[in-house]
Amino acid sequence: MGEETRRGPVTGRTWVMLVVVVLLASAIGIALGLAIDWFPAQGSTIASKIDTFWDVLVIASVPIFVGVATVVIFSIWRWRMRPGEEELDGPPTHGSTRLEVIWTALPTIVIAGLCAYSTVLLLDIQDSPAKGTRVVNVVGQQFAWTFATNENGKRIVTNRLVLPKGEAVQFKVHSRDVIHDFWVPEWRLKVDAVPGITTKYSVTPSKTGTFQVVCAELCGLGHAFMRQFVTIVEPAAYAAWVAKQTAGAGAAGAGAGGASAAKPDGKQLFVAGNPQTNAISCGSCHTMKAAGTTGTTGPNLDTALKQDDAAGIREMIVSPGKEIAEGYGANVMPPNYGQTLSPQELAALVTYIDKSVHGGKQ
Ligand code: CUA
Repeated sequence: MGEETRRGPVTGRTWVMLVVVVLLASAIGIALGLAIDWFPAQGSTIASKIDTFWDVLVIASVPIFVGVATVVIFSIWRWRMRPGEEELDGPPTHGSTRLEVIWTALPTIVIAGLCAYSTVLLLDIQDSPAKGTRVVNVVGQQFAWTFATNENGKRIVTNRLVLPKGEAVQFKVHSRDVIHDFWVPEWRLKVDAVPGITTKYSVTPSKTGTFQVVCAELCGLGHAFMRQFVTIVEPAAYAAWVAKQTAGAGAAGAGAGGASAAKPDGKQLFVAGNPQTNAISCGSCHTMKAAGTTGTTGPNLDTALKQDDAAGIREMIVSPGKEIAEGYGANVMPPNYGQTLSPQELAALVTYIDKSVHGGKQ
């Protein structure tokens, strides 16, 4: 034995080459990692801090990945088995205390450093909000968000979040059923909505515009559709929005859920729902030819409701749990259309669906 070590220990020149490869590849990797636009535009005052943290993580992790990959690839190449070596065993080795100390200490220092940084950052952005900060209660349920806030002593409930730019807001996040996750990518913050507890975070929107509110926790068949919108407006526009919302609620009175006085449009309700009252659109989950919708979370209504009359369709909307179509899970359809639709809206919707699936002219 002994011949098997003919590819002997790594020489000084090879070491230099390996180090050069690692340095070069790290430089390229870091440059790429920093050049790529990973995230949407920054929409909150803390977004830049999160992005800086991300950059630090890229800078810290690329050389580690490159270093490990280089050693592995080099070892596979240099000490690979060649024809005739099938029976050979490598030379006996014993531990290297120096090496073990290094490869234990180095990762410990790196991890401890990054943990310290992220802890400091987390404490910084979790700053308890100042007294008087606007509170928005966020309720997640399969498969929609509801937002409730108090303005001038009046409660505003919507499923389209509207907030003023530059003013801090605290979200208190709840869930009615399973775990969801409240996420606005532009703000860089997200938090789970967990049944039974209230989770919180505070943010100061810094960019006007309309952004998606995304559920970032797999929560059932309709998870992918659990997307709504937040619109950030200038404070003056927000005040106007509040005035409109609270005025509407006062005029329409309780029960109607702020439904407008105009006759509800069944097709409109089917395709877009009613954002004012948290009624999710039918079309986001159901295919129906007349409405031009193609959702597949729930049954195709053209075929599923063929045998149902208006009363039956109404029953399916109000009590979806009673009869589950074959191949579809229970509790996928929101059970609260009886509350989110006003009686007038429900009637318009039923008439529209009835006509549509039974070939009536629209
Ligand atoms: Cu709610 Cu995913």
